[in-house]
Amino acid sequence: MPEERLSPETVVAIDGYLKPNVDQIVKRHDLFRKVKDDIEQHEGGYDSFTKGYLKFGLNVGSNGEVVYREWAPNAREAFLIGDFNDWNRTSHPMRKNQFGVWEIAVPPSSPGICAIPHDSKIKISMILPSGERVERIPAWIKRVTQELSVSPVYDARFWNPPESEKYKFKNARPPYPKDAKIYEAHVGISTSEPRVGTYKEFTTNVLQRIKYLGYNVIQLMAIMEHAYYASFGYQVTSFFAISSRCGTPEELKELIDTAHGMGLTVLLDIVHSHACKNVLDGINEFDGTDHLYFHEGSKGRHELWDSRLFNYGNHEVLRFLLSNLRFYMEEYQFDGFRFDGVTSMMYTHHGIGAGFSGGYHEYFGDSADLEAIVYLMLANDAMHLLYPKVITIAEDVSGMPLLCVPVNKGGVGFDYRLSMAIPDMWIKLLKHKTDDEWNMSDIVHILTNRRYGEKSVAYCESHDQALVGDKTLAFWLMDKEMYTHMSDFTPMTPVISRGIALHKLIRLLTHSLGGEGYLNFEGNEFGHPEWLDFPREGNGNSFHYARRQWNVVDDPLLRYKYLNSFDSAMNHADEKYGWLSTQPAYVSLKHEVDKVIVYERAGLLFVFNFHPTQSFTDYRVGVDEAGEYSVVLTSDEGRFGGFDNVKLGGQYFTTPMEWNNRKNWLQVYIPTRTCLVLAKRSD
Ligand SMILES: *[C@@H]1O[C@H](CO)[C@@H](O)[C@H](O)[C@H]1NC(C)=O
Ligand SMILES: *[C@@H]1O[C@H](CO)[C@@H](O)[C@H](O)[C@H]1NC(C)=O
Repeated sequence: MPEERLSPETVVAIDGYLKPNVDQIVKRHDLFRKVKDDIEQHEGGYDSFTKGYLKFGLNVGSNGEVVYREWAPNAREAFLIGDFNDWNRTSHPMRKNQFGVWEIAVPPSSPGICAIPHDSKIKISMILPSGERVERIPAWIKRVTQELSVSPVYDARFWNPPESEKYKFKNARPPYPKDAKIYEAHVGISTSEPRVGTYKEFTTNVLQRIKYLGYNVIQLMAIMEHAYYASFGYQVTSFFAISSRCGTPEELKELIDTAHGMGLTVLLDIVHSHACKNVLDGINEFDGTDHLYFHEGSKGRHELWDSRLFNYGNHEVLRFLLSNLRFYMEEYQFDGFRFDGVTSMMYTHHGIGAGFSGGYHEYFGDSADLEAIVYLMLANDAMHLLYPKVITIAEDVSGMPLLCVPVNKGGVGFDYRLSMAIPDMWIKLLKHKTDDEWNMSDIVHILTNRRYGEKSVAYCESHDQALVGDKTLAFWLMDKEMYTHMSDFTPMTPVISRGIALHKLIRLLTHSLGGEGYLNFEGNEFGHPEWLDFPREGNGNSFHYARRQWNVVDDPLLRYKYLNSFDSAMNHADEKYGWLSTQPAYVSLKHEVDKVIVYERAGLLFVFNFHPTQSFTDYRVGVDEAGEYSVVLTSDEGRFGGFDNVKLGGQYFTTPMEWNNRKNWLQVYIPTRTCLVLAKRSD
């Protein structure tokens, strides 16, 4: 059945301010419908179209026959070469069909036994119309490896382990998380040692940390193979191969399965916004043309990223990318995706030099890249239809309206967007303002300025903030004293005392006021010092900053443990009271002189005192629900590095008198640089 036309009323009912843009929104939905209907009619629908990886690349039949297919219309001749045929450039010719797809079937060497050995090297060798011979790594290859002692260029391998060595998933996907508390991680940097960490080490050592901290979602970066380690995984060379630096496909499957067994949802940081420009071990100039997967010329190049931009209007590119998503859902059992670089995709200016003030013309005018937006609509629509519990998150800084509204209501179909303005605000405050200059109204504004009905993931710092050139929040706060004064045996200096206090306040305020999800980059839960930097020529290929110093949080004599325990308490409090999955907070007080912020969410009362010196006794705060309250979480607890001045539990009775627009008030003791969370006693 053809997709139904979007009615303008549906859009206007979501947001009346969209009325002037409704034609554009219907138009982009029409374009989406056309492509979806095409896929329905000519490809058998999403289900078969997104299984391109079973047709393209190397696949094994039940009889041991290996079939290899590759889209390379410009090639005049093509051959499969590899260890299995001693790299003979004539013995295994491929045949081309009318769509430019090459094919070869390599019969089994004996019944059920592939003629191409498991893990052996292979390539495609092509003759171009000019007579030139080019050799490439298959675009859909599932395993590539690098032998630096031989060459920096990757080798393609035929990954086909014997049945006994194939990883078999034991656990079902975990239940759909009611909210997303995301632990963003990079496997390679996840050991304390100056080297690349492995999938196995992550499974054994890091998953349990994530579980203890109360996160329910893991977001793995740098999984798709990238020839350049220092690109942080964002210059992808082989889209269907997982990074072999950290281990084998079977080992990544074990990581994901183990996480599932612990109730953790696992998302893949997917990079479909651009591709590495490498030719020898990437997909650039695959068949000798400039435009196979990409736009030709400058339209196909990203100035700042020095990479190639996909042609989302091309049917085969759609097959490649949509199948890539399906592949990670099926083969690795990922539970969803964080889409990288969505702003760059959605606008022809790629967000370069463009400001977004919130005017709706910025989103729907000439600068909207409709082909890319339609690709994102297809990706979200297909994944949500095939996997109703998939989670998709958009990395978008522009604030595109309807980004997180289902496609059939006129949206782009994501579940969440990342609130990229929040970390920027914290860094700016710490860099440029003294504590008495912090403006409570401005802070609340940034934390609450999001589209109603579209879910946001709030965060204080992701990997972006920790990258070289910048530094972690903890390091902005405490800087060099972290080297000398983090031991419990050293005197508490004003810098460390402030740093430990504000690090907790910043996190809880962001967590409870900033969105419907929360994200932490690994290590920052305990105030990881310094910054991230990958081995590269400019730093003597050092791994010193490309690791996580778990040793400091595991040392019971150091103060990092306080920050870590608070992170766990914060997430577990949300697990119990569920503020992230409820309506946004009602903020009843932003006091610029007292530096106090008060709000209610999920029936909890949050009180923050950012004043650098003042503590307040009997501070009157408004609360809507009458009753007896008690403190269920405070940064002042001794186990969080506080002073134990606030009594946990305690009785706070409301007085039925209006205060700050709330029906009742109660009075609390709120020490300097402390936060309290009160809950109504239910017994
Ligand atoms: C390559 O294969 C062809 C055809 O099977 C054969 O005639 C030729 O001798 C092979 N070349 C080498 C160097 O083995
Ligand atoms: C705080 O910010 C608000 C809104 O931007 C502004 O009206 C107010 O004057 C500021 N207050 C102080 C003390 O800077």
